Amino acid sequence: MPPTHGDLQARRTQLSDMANGYRTSATILAAIELGVFSALSDRPKTMPELAADLACSERGLRGLLDALVGLDLLVLDDGRYGLHGLADEFLRDGSPLYMGDILEHGVSLLKRWAHLADAVRTGKPIREAGKPKRTADELRAFILGMQNIAVKSAEQMVEFLDLGPVKRVLDVGGGPGTYLHAVLRAQPNATGSVLDLPDVIRIAREQTEKEGLTDRVSYIEGSMFDVDYGGPWDLVILSNIIHSWDESANAQLFARSSSSLAPGGFLLVKDFFLESNRTTPPDAALFTLNMLVGTEAGRSYSWQECEDWLTSAGLKLIRRGKVGISSGLLLAQKAK
Ligand SMILES: C[S@@+](CC[C@H](N)C(=O)[O-])C[C@H]1O[C@@H](n2cnc3c(N)ncnc32)[C@H](O)[C@@H]1O
Repeated sequence: MPPTHGDLQARRTQLSDMANGYRTSATILAAIELGVFSALSDRPKTMPELAADLACSERGLRGLLDALVGLDLLVLDDGRYGLHGLADEFLRDGSPLYMGDILEHGVSLLKRWAHLADAVRTGKPIREAGKPKRTADELRAFILGMQNIAVKSAEQMVEFLDLGPVKRVLDVGGGPGTYLHAVLRAQPNATGSVLDLPDVIRIAREQTEKEGLTDRVSYIEGSMFDVDYGGPWDLVILSNIIHSWDESANAQLFARSSSSLAPGGFLLVKDFFLESNRTTPPDAALFTLNMLVGTEAGRSYSWQECEDWLTSAGLKLIRRGKVGISSGLLLAQKAK
């Protein structure tokens, strides 16, 4: 049966909504970049007050604020704009559920995604000539953003692990150390190390202090491809690491992790795993494009590719699991 006019209109709208999704993201991320949600965190404000606080034109800011009201992220009440809905819950300064850092990281990503077609043509990441990959502020937003999104999934990861007593834990490319901190909270007799680059270790130290775990965490500064992993460890974590590198680099990381494990020790890998068709789930397939615009050789990998690296590194797969909205977990063990 030919599609009715109504169906046709619905399908046109569906395509147009998919293609124009950037309008919503650009609106929210412009508000993050300008500091709109922070400026409204203590109290609602009038438009001229906000325009002065944020050094913005009244014309531009009115358009942005009204669009945010339309998106239910702000409310306009008696001439004052205030935080509302999801922004009230997740973007108010000081909220324990704060997600502003990861959205600030999104501001940098959007600028790269705008040039996606160039990255597809060249196969190279998008870089601004003469600029470092990340400024200090961008690095901080990236690393604290990892903490924003890991808070809940780290708790789920600990449930999935269900390891019994663990004494020594290494978090490779641990960033803010969220996963290590979660394991240490669940294992009162354990200690651990965050391995990361020096600028990131500074941020990890701050987070460890906030968690009250300073006495139980040490640090290994340097590249995960060169630095001595120490050990032997009972648990090594590779969380959101493998999508940044190519196949041979990942095989090296698995071999290095495996060598640093004690007999019977565990390796935990967390990432956005693809099915073997490489096209589903769609979030993981889209994430490959995120790594195309941001890295030299990263992409999402399939469960099977990762399991092959585990086996080649002499480890035995114990189980697969899911965590957060779209992440997978693989637990493997070294022979006793
Ligand atoms: C996507 S973040 C993941 C952070 C953390 N594991 C998590 O899941 O929340 C990747 C981490 O790898 C670190 N990293 C990147 N290249 C590295 C290298 N060559 N050596 C050590 N760490 C590195 C980054 O600094 C960052 O902390």
